[in-house]
Amino acid sequence: MRTALFCSLLLIILLGLYGMGNSSEHARKQDVAAVANAQYRAECGSCHLAYPPGLLPGRSWEKLLQQLADHFGENAEVQEEVRQALQSYLQNNAADRVDYQKSRKMVASIPAGQTPLRISEIPYFRHEHGENKEVKVYGSGEKLSLARCEQCHPLAEQGSFHEHELRLPGKGAANRP
Ligand code: HEC
Ligand code: HEC
Repeated sequence: MRTALFCSLLLIILLGLYGMGNSSEHARKQDVAAVANAQYRAECGSCHLAYPPGLLPGRSWEKLLQQLADHFGENAEVQEEVRQALQSYLQNNAADRVDYQKSRKMVASIPAGQTPLRISEIPYFRHEHGENKEVKVYGSGEKLSLARCEQCHPLAEQGSFHEHELRLPGKGAANRP
């Protein structure tokens, strides 16, 4: 009887530890939630990275989706049905709707009443990347738009922007001597 009690206690403790391990791992790995919608990835990931929804507040996604015919100089229009599906995915997972560290920081840094259309214009982003919109690619004359997150953060679509994962275009892993 006592052995049975001991065993169940042990099991409860082990399960608890396993759960804790899991959730801290989760928090460590992701700065924002990963992209988890195939339709969004297909429709909005063909010209550039499918930006994780947790990088912009809901009002920004809404405004972007209202102006797809003139989307940063490109026509990115989709059918109304598709637009509504994208809208609900983006809204439900927007930076002001979820509880991820970088989502909170992005939102907190946007002055009240502003609706940025670019992640790369948000003050917290600027704080991390400087004021330039483009950076020079090391060892070439080329320039890279800061909107190309995945070029430096290979796990951007998975929502991970850790320093130790950084690669610098033309240079490789950032921490290589
Ligand atoms: C036809 C190509 C194309 C499609 C399709 C497209 N985009 Fe874009 N998008 C662009 C271009 C070009 C830019 C500007 C990139 C730059 O400045 O380097 C851009 C920029 C953006 C930015 C701002 C990036 C930043 O922080 O500077 C967001 C957000 C964005 N797109 C969201 C979307 C969403 C949401 C969809 C799907 C509805 C979508 N895009 C589909 C071409 C496209
Ligand atoms: C040209 C390379 C480059 C591009 C492109 C780029 N980043 Fe970064 N990013 C950096 C560097 C360098 C840092 C600073 C790392 C540090 O000092 O911790 C950084 C830091 C960050 C951080 C903070 C990480 C932390 O743990 O503090 C976030 C979040 C981030 N970037 C998101 C983005 C997003 C989103 C995009 C695209 C819209 C993007 N970055 C585009 C190079 C880049």
